Amino acid sequence: MAKRRVRRIVRGTDTSDGGGVRLRRTIGGPDLDHLDPFLLLDEFKSDDRDDYIAGFPDHPHRGFETVTYMLAGAMRHRDSRGNEGHLVAGSVQWMTAGRGLVHSEMPQQEDGLMWGFQLWVNLPAAQKMTAPRYQDIPPERVPEVELGPGARARVVAGAAGGAEGPVSGVATQPVYLDLRLAAGASLQPDLTPDHNAFAYVYEGDARLGDDGTPVASKHLAVLDPEGDSVLVRAGDSGARLLLVAGRPIGEPVARYGPFVMNTREEILEAVEDFRAGRLA
Ligand code: CO
Repeated sequence: MAKRRVRRIVRGTDTSDGGGVRLRRTIGGPDLDHLDPFLLLDEFKSDDRDDYIAGFPDHPHRGFETVTYMLAGAMRHRDSRGNEGHLVAGSVQWMTAGRGLVHSEMPQQEDGLMWGFQLWVNLPAAQKMTAPRYQDIPPERVPEVELGPGARARVVAGAAGGAEGPVSGVATQPVYLDLRLAAGASLQPDLTPDHNAFAYVYEGDARLGDDGTPVASKHLAVLDPEGDSVLVRAGDSGARLLLVAGRPIGEPVARYGPFVMNTREEILEAVEDFRAGRLA
């Protein structure tokens, strides 16, 4: 079967969210509203405390999943039901908000580098009102495998190089790989045909697809859904990138801030439930 190619490149927007955390948004911004089932992708990276110290104070979610993956720094997660988790470098939190919760994500450091990603993954209608679920995964549970000379992957979700990621039971059957390639190295991970996929280059630069479309640092490449693998080749200074794929849901998306449902009526219900304290 054919290898995948790049369909389009998304540049991303510098913005801020939560209490005023500076971040770069590629999915969920003006260039790319969503890539079914992915609703948002943010990268936060700063060694200036003013860029992150306000964190993400109490806020609600309903109808989808938030995935936080840390490269550096530490955050504490707390929700209104008393669940608490510590996010450190290399760890991941896959949170299924389902019918809803109110939570905060706050820095656990006074200074130094804070670096990570938040991805929002939609839920199908049948699971939007499911009970909230946390998969808090420490760094040592994320397998790291070699996919070729100078080419390594941390497997957060899905499979690569004979390793299985620790995230389980997610409706959209996600693949989430953190790839690190030395200068000129290449790899070719498998992807399920017709699952939507993107690559976000967060350091260095890469060429993607058998036609070698260049993707610069801090840019996101949307891949064509046809094909069962993608060729990734690093540029002269190497490359680090996220490669993420998932089964498209194919349902209407009604979105308002931290609520993502199928209809406007369901959004109004979510706002009303939040105001009445029923998400806490
Ligand atoms: Co949140």
